[in-house]
Amino acid sequence: MYTLEDALKIAFEHENAGRFAIATEIFRSVLTVAPSQPVAESRLREINGKLEVLRSALRFTFPGEPVPPGLVDALTHMFRLERDLPSGHKQPGYLVSTNDERGRPNDRLLDLVMSAFPLARRARFDSLDARQVNGERWYRFWPGEHYALIVGLLQVLKPRIAIEIGTFTGMATLVMAENMPADGRVFTFDIVDWRKIDNSWLCESDFAGKHTTQILADLSRPAKFEEHRALIEQADFIFIDGPKDHHTEKSLLALLDSVTFKTKPIIMFDDTKLLNMVDIWHQLDRPKLDVTSFGHWSGTGLVDWCG
Ligand SMILES: C[S@@+](CC[C@H](N)C(=O)[O-])C[C@H]1O[C@@H](n2cnc3c(N)ncnc32)[C@H](O)[C@@H]1O
Repeated sequence: MYTLEDALKIAFEHENAGRFAIATEIFRSVLTVAPSQPVAESRLREINGKLEVLRSALRFTFPGEPVPPGLVDALTHMFRLERDLPSGHKQPGYLVSTNDERGRPNDRLLDLVMSAFPLARRARFDSLDARQVNGERWYRFWPGEHYALIVGLLQVLKPRIAIEIGTFTGMATLVMAENMPADGRVFTFDIVDWRKIDNSWLCESDFAGKHTTQILADLSRPAKFEEHRALIEQADFIFIDGPKDHHTEKSLLALLDSVTFKTKPIIMFDDTKLLNMVDIWHQLDRPKLDVTSFGHWSGTGLVDWCG
């Protein structure tokens, strides 16, 4: 048998944990059975006050739009996690069902990852280990980061041409270059020269032969894309790891849609779980597979572009 005190205690626990909707329900129920409960009344007033602040903020952001009740609760959870979760890098997320997506995993993708995962597990990074660079050696974290997965994928796919969009420190560029077949070539695109990046993993000698090339171009711009269309048509593997600002990825995907590939490229997307990327990944209507648990914690997705 629960007493009123038990119910209030449970309601307080929910309120303290930021579960305002549940706490509200319990306080309201207490008031229904025991109308003069000053504690329940004052808590309800307090919760409503907090929720009203959030609702007003949302109405200010989206003027004229009704605020879905679940959203306010979700936001309070987000604030609580942002404050309390002891994690070095946190990002809010949004869960979306996959069973009703049109782009589904196909046999090629399933076979590819079944072969790539054991190779990822045994991945070695001797060349990066030997370099003296300040900064985290993210390539050593797997699963969790995507570098070992790239090793496994390239060892299976043996691409002749691999393209990376987003060079940054060059960590993935080097991992790709190290795992290409002898006649393979890596083209890494960025809008910033690798020489201008602090703590870059790259050095001039990495670009000495024809094996690795950096191209400074924003491929989400149609004119730039046209300049490099002939190269893109021949890519066997494309790693999209640019700004994740939504617009760049959206226009890049539209431009990729216009390519008549001479190959059957596998396209790997980073950060598919970021709020900016959720709908882009969800709406990608080609054979695809979410491999986040074996890639990057922020979301990794593989697409069999011509599958
Ligand atoms: C997350 S970092 C890439 C990390 C790298 N791929 C790795 O795994 O080690 C993102 C990079 O995208 C670059 N970038 C931003 N906008 C771009 C664009 N439109 N085209 C190509 N690269 C872009 C940024 O300058 C930055 O260097």
